[in-house]
Amino acid sequence: MKDSPTESNTPVVSKERLNKANHELHRFGNYKSYYTHFRSPVSPDTRLTQLSTFITGGKRILDLGCNSGKLTLELASHFAASEVVGVDLDLFLIEQAEKAKSSEKQEAARKVTFELFDFASTIPFVGAAAEIDWDVVLLLSVIKWVHLNTSDQVLIDLFMHLFTILKSGGYLVIEPQDWTNYKRAVKKCPSLKENFKKLRLRPPFDDVLKSQGWEEVDGWERDEVGFERSVRVWRKPVEDANALVE
Ligand SMILES: C[S@@+](CC[C@H](N)C(=O)[O-])C[C@H]1O[C@@H](n2cnc3c(N)ncnc32)[C@H](O)[C@@H]1O
Repeated sequence: MKDSPTESNTPVVSKERLNKANHELHRFGNYKSYYTHFRSPVSPDTRLTQLSTFITGGKRILDLGCNSGKLTLELASHFAASEVVGVDLDLFLIEQAEKAKSSEKQEAARKVTFELFDFASTIPFVGAAAEIDWDVVLLLSVIKWVHLNTSDQVLIDLFMHLFTILKSGGYLVIEPQDWTNYKRAVKKCPSLKENFKKLRLRPPFDDVLKSQGWEEVDGWERDEVGFERSVRVWRKPVEDANALVE
């Protein structure tokens, strides 16, 4: 439908055009009401309860693509983490996350830091995320956005960087969106189309991860409405202490 002027000559923007503009604004998955309108409001997030086998107390956790910080703050309290860093590229979302942190009554929130930067184009990472020897790195429902906005190579480099900053035996937890989900995103946000056509890698990226030395540890399907995608756990292999002894 074409935009048409009213009799008073005020331009009327069609719903379709507004929708498109809205999707362009959120081309990184940087939805402002992600936890209130899209994801299950359950607290703690059920993805965390399912990770309890892998994440025990006192761990250092890096949450890449933290949005407004709900899950990031829950990581600190649910797992009694010693340090949690959440990263996002959207200033509004990081400000929301900071607000949520300051209104959080639990002591655990003090262990959380939020950092504003693009982790796909800023390698090595910066701020509190520049540290190394993480126990766990999370890439939840964000890989599609990184991939669609960059390239296969950027994704490969990102996985490799995560390998170098994790402790030996540390976990990488991913929640990759499937290929049909990519297609839906491109339909809604046509500016991603050119990049999309160049992508050769396909989720869940098992071959790439294996070739970099990651060990597949576990994975399960989830039935959260609208987010029926798997969570997969990879590990940086434990160094063989004997191999270091001559
Ligand atoms: C769909 S949300 C997922 C939020 C959270 N990980 C979860 O699963 O509950 C994706 C978030 O990743 C952020 N994001 C996407 N690409 C990013 C990048 N390259 N650097 C930093 N943040 C990014 C977006 O701004 C958005 O807030």
